[in-house]
Order: sequence, then structure tokens, then C-alpha cells
Amino acid sequence: MPEPGHILLTGGAGFIGANFVRYVLAERPGVRLTNLDALTYSGNLENLAGVAEAHAGYRFVRGDVTDAELVGRLVAEADVVVHMAAESHVDRSILDSRPFIVTNVLGTQTLLDAVRRRQREGAPVRFVHVSTDEVYGSLPLDDPEERFTEETPLAPNSPYAASKAAADLLVRAYHHTFGLEAMITRCSNNFGPYQFPEKVIPLFVTNLVEGAQVPLYGDGLNVRDWLHVLDHCEAVLAVAERGRAGEVYNIGGNNERSNLELTRTILELMGQGPEMIRRVPDRPGHDRRYAIDAGKIARELGWRPTRSAWPGALAETVAWYRDNPGWWKRVKSGEYREYYKRQYGG
Ligand code: NAD
Ligand code: TYD
Repeated sequence: MPEPGHILLTGGAGFIGANFVRYVLAERPGVRLTNLDALTYSGNLENLAGVAEAHAGYRFVRGDVTDAELVGRLVAEADVVVHMAAESHVDRSILDSRPFIVTNVLGTQTLLDAVRRRQREGAPVRFVHVSTDEVYGSLPLDDPEERFTEETPLAPNSPYAASKAAADLLVRAYHHTFGLEAMITRCSNNFGPYQFPEKVIPLFVTNLVEGAQVPLYGDGLNVRDWLHVLDHCEAVLAVAERGRAGEVYNIGGNNERSNLELTRTILELMGQGPEMIRRVPDRPGHDRRYAIDAGKIARELGWRPTRSAWPGALAETVAWYRDNPGWWKRVKSGEYREYYKRQYGG
């Protein structure tokens, strides 16, 4: 497949989406990119400051992925859809799962139907569904060799993971039934700039800057496989351009750490001591360990993580939050919600 001419990205004002916009426009200067985003609490146009001014081929459209009419119009202009829009935070899904079902399941179905219409019209559109390793459930701590492969059965444990797994199964079914050129990526935990400070790394760093303790869940021994967001973006673009239709690609950082190790490293990087850790009750249903076998994408597409090695990559991310208090203070205070109105008068 040649480089895409026009990408429709959903969720491009969020953490990974905004990094993807910047990454793709730098790597593929000729591409047109439409960013469809509803600007929910985690969508922030400040993540994309300067992008529209620097790239004539970039366009932002505020809208919802469940809006079939709008989605149909935008899909008809694109030759690749990269679908990242989602409700993304496990803790929020435990408090209220409904928005997760609406956006993550119904939104994906709405996009798939629009892609299917293009297929019937003789204008096939490639579709990349950006999913998560959380659909596989949890690994035990006692077998460090065990990792999720693309064949691992789905066993989602949180409402968030269940909604992503439901969407994955719809993508699979639309490929199987209608022959859509659809691919699924399943990625481990991302870190990097512009992550909403409800997620553990930006939450902990910004708390420490503000002199507050960091809330560590349970015994702190849960393990996550950390991947730099730009490694993730590179992998998603590789799948969009060269992935095989109907395939799943796992994406991971080969970078497993317990939350306690992560917390201690952040404290060290911030020059703070263990008294800043506040032990809090565990998250209900908290998955113990995620670990990705990313051998398939390495073999088929030649992708490997190159930006994720710790402590260097983590230190850069910690420094980004330390050096950009304006960005996260406006997020924590809610002021970032005014940016759209200032920019677009809406
Ligand atoms: P995020 O919460 O930072 O961003 C989500 C974006 O989607 C926001 O800009 C939001 O406004 C938009 N959005 C939400 N509902 C929408 C709707 N109905 N219509 C249009 N836009 C809507 O999330 P993120 O961390 O950037 O995650 C992006 C994708 O990557 C998600 O699909 C997530 O499941 C997946 N993922 C994330 C991680 C991670 O570590 N963050 C890991 C693996 C997979
Ligand atoms: P999070 O960033 O929410 O990602 P996910 O749940 O999708 O993996 O959390 C990462 C890990 O950090 C997870 O094991 C839960 C833990 N955690 C805390 O210990 N304290 C916190 O305040 C948060 C938000 C997460």
C-alpha cells in the first residue's frame, strides 16, 4: 500500500492522538490529516498548539464518533481511518461504564458502517483500530516468561477493557463478514508528553511539583509494560501503511516495571523521598501484570521500540511535565476547556 493521501484520525486531541498528529505530519509532510474529536474532558486543543498554522493539510473537526452522518462524510474523504477516540481511563469506567459503551462500542460500530459503505461504493478505506493489551486480562506475577501474544484469549477485567474488547470483536466481524481492510493494534501503557494528569505518571509528577503525596494503589506490585508514545505512533503508522487486513498486532516496550519501582524512580528524578508515597486502597479488580510479546510486528513490519528505554526516556517525560507547568495547571484547573472557545469562538 502506498503512503496514505488522507488520514481520518479520531481522538486526535487526546494524549496519543495529539502525539500521532505531530508525528505523522513530521514524517509524511505531504499527507492530509483530518482530526475528528468531540473534545471530552480528555480532549485538549492546547495539545495541538501551532499544528494548524504549520501544516496546510491539517484540519480539526469537532464532532462525535457516534454521529453517523458526520462520520460518513469524513470517511468518504479519507483513504485510511486511524481510530483512537475512546473513553480511556479504567478508574472512570469503574465509576460509570456507560460512556465507555457509547463511545468505545457504538462509536467503533458507527465508523465501521461508514467504512463498509465506502467498500460497497468501490472505494475501500483501510481501518486501524487502536486497542489495548488490557483486553487480554491479567498475567500472574510468578511467571516472568509469560506474555500476551495475538493468540491469547480475550479476558477483559474492567468495564474499560470490556468495551475495548467488544469493539475489537466488531472490527474482527466486519473484516470477516464484509471483507473490510481492518487491522487491530493492542498496545501496552504509554508514557510521554500531553498525557491527561489522571494517569499515573503525569498524576504523580504533577502532584510532587505541587508538594502533594502520590497515591499508590494496594501493594504497588502490579506490573505494567511502559512504551514511549512516539514508539506507539510509529507502530500505528506502520500498521496503517503495511499491516495485513484482518490481523492483530501487539505493540509493547519490553519495559516491565512494578508501580512501586516506577514510583521510586519518579521520586528519585524529582529529588523527593519515600515519605511522599501515600498508600491507598487497591483499585477494584486491579489487573496484576501486563506484558506484551511484540514479535509479530517486529517480524512482519520491522517495528521495534527505540525510544522507550528507562531511565532515560522516563527522565525526559518527567522533565517535560516539570518544564511545562502551564499546560497541566490549566488542565488540572479546568481552564483548558476555554481554549476551544478562544480559538474557534464556539
Ligand atoms: P485520551 O483519553 O487521552 O484521549 C481520547 C480522545 O478521544 C480525547 O481527545 C477525547 O476528546 C476523544 N473522544 C472521546 N470520546 C469521543 C467521541 N465520542 N467522539 C470523538 N472523540 C472522542 O486517550 P489516549 O490515552 O490518548 O488513548 C487513545 C487510544 O489509545 C484509546 O483508544 C485507548 O484505548 C488506546 N490506548 C491507550 C493506551 C495508553 O496508555 N494511554 C494504551 C493502549 C491503548
Ligand atoms: P493507569 O495510568 O490508570 O493505567 P492502566 O490502569 O490503564 O494500566 O495506571 C497504571 C498503574 O498505576 C495501574 O496499575 C494503577 C496504578 N495507579 C496507582 O497506583 N495510583 C494512581 O493514582 C493511578 C491513577 C494508577
